[in-house]
Amino acid sequence: MGAQADFDDFRTLSDAEAQGRIRAARARLGERAVLLCHHYQRADIYQHADLTGDSLKLARLASTTDAGFIVFCGVHFMAEVADILSRPTQTAVLPDLAAGCSMADMANLAKVERCWRELGAVLGASDPQITPVTYINSAADLKAFCGEHGGIVCTSTNAPVILDWAFAQGRKVLFFPDQHLGRWTGFKKGIPLEQMVVWNPDHENGGLSRAQIEDARIILWNGHCSVHQMFQPEHIRRWRAQYPEGLVISHPESNLEVCQASDYVGSTEYILNTITAAPAGTRWLVGTELNLVNRLAEEMKPHGKVVQFMAPIVCMCSTMQRIDPQHLAWTLENLAAGEVVNPIRVPAREAELARVALERMLAVS
Ligand code: 13P
Ligand code: SF4
Repeated sequence: MGAQADFDDFRTLSDAEAQGRIRAARARLGERAVLLCHHYQRADIYQHADLTGDSLKLARLASTTDAGFIVFCGVHFMAEVADILSRPTQTAVLPDLAAGCSMADMANLAKVERCWRELGAVLGASDPQITPVTYINSAADLKAFCGEHGGIVCTSTNAPVILDWAFAQGRKVLFFPDQHLGRWTGFKKGIPLEQMVVWNPDHENGGLSRAQIEDARIILWNGHCSVHQMFQPEHIRRWRAQYPEGLVISHPESNLEVCQASDYVGSTEYILNTITAAPAGTRWLVGTELNLVNRLAEEMKPHGKVVQFMAPIVCMCSTMQRIDPQHLAWTLENLAAGEVVNPIRVPAREAELARVALERMLAVS
């Protein structure tokens, strides 16, 4: 073990220098470290991935890898899931602790507990069974809340089966933090839009009347993704006018109108697999983060497919983008020298309850 290398010594490395040091540190680490990468990672990080995936696939991979260090190139909640699902002898590491998810930050435990109390007070004994469902894009303490209250975690891949599971427990679901994923999933199940109400955590009773709460099937948290909110049905209409034969695919974090106007809706892994499997000569408009769309566009070119980004402006996941070659070089060199920087350790009790909700999800999906 040596002294921990300071990030300031890496900050000024050129990208080429950082890349060289990443390769050297990886060679020293060998199989002691595995690099998990979300599909939104920038190309200069993605190229180092051992394993890639959407949130569900990465959660499964984190629970099955044998490597001592799980270097998570993604955002904070993903590294927390890796810590919760891996063995105590393994360590999940996030190269930049500032790589959060702005949607996950839209719900916190204090606000969800207040919502739970207020729902309980309105519904009383008449409708005691509300099942809390948290999108995996949430902090570990919210997953623990779900574990403790008979709830579950979902991802963009398994939200439909998770909602079936939740409704098998009771008549109502509290879905947080992404209203759009919840609404689209409920809509596909035939739940009327007026029975999916939005809970505004800044108002008493979520800004809802007693009748609205009593009648609701899904109570949607007022959260969204700052990247996917940029996509609008107008972008699809204009593109279809130009390319009537083209196909549109969107992530379910997009709003309901965008999902309704798309030919396909699904997770990042689904988007990747669908376009990869499509015939040559097809043209695609894609409503998800720009790094993934740019990579797909390049990979599909030799196969005679055209892949285009949905929004006219650049919208990247700016937090995902924080994992850069300098941070990755710093993390890996320290690990190779026996120094663990940025370990993600969820407190034991919270991890235990969050694992309950995550394992329910893995069993159901
Ligand atoms: P996926 O699980 O589809 O990869 O989505 C994660 C995410 O944060 C999308 O914005
Ligand atoms: Fe979070 Fe949106 Fe980034 Fe996905 S794209 S990690 S939901 S901020």
